[in-house]
Amino acid sequence: QVQQDPFLEITEGTGINITCSHPQKLSGYYIHYYRLLPDRGPELLVSAASGSKDVPAIAGKLSVSEDGRSSALWLAGPRRGDAAVYYCA
Ligand SMILES: *[C@@H]1O[C@H](CO)[C@@H](O)[C@H](O)[C@H]1NC(C)=O
Repeated sequence: QVQQDPFLEITEGTGINITCSHPQKLSGYYIHYYRLLPDRGPELLVSAASGSKDVPAIAGKLSVSEDGRSSALWLAGPRRGDAAVYYCA
């Protein structure tokens, strides 16, 4: 089970964290982030079990919290074209 904010809005170019709560994720289990752009299929952005990982596709980074219960997808300089539905799983 995961939980995300239903809606996030930011001014173009302002960094934003898209957070995801997953209190029951076990340590070896992966968290995945997908995004769904208008008129496109879902795109897998990144998968990680722990730590942090660069995500070139969005000029950003995924960080999994130390206890593994939450994660944040950081978009350093979001553009209009990054407006999408972001899913964690
Ligand atoms: C975004 O999330 C990361 C990881 O949790 C955190 O280190 C960082 O401070 C957050 N940045 C902002 C601006 O909230």
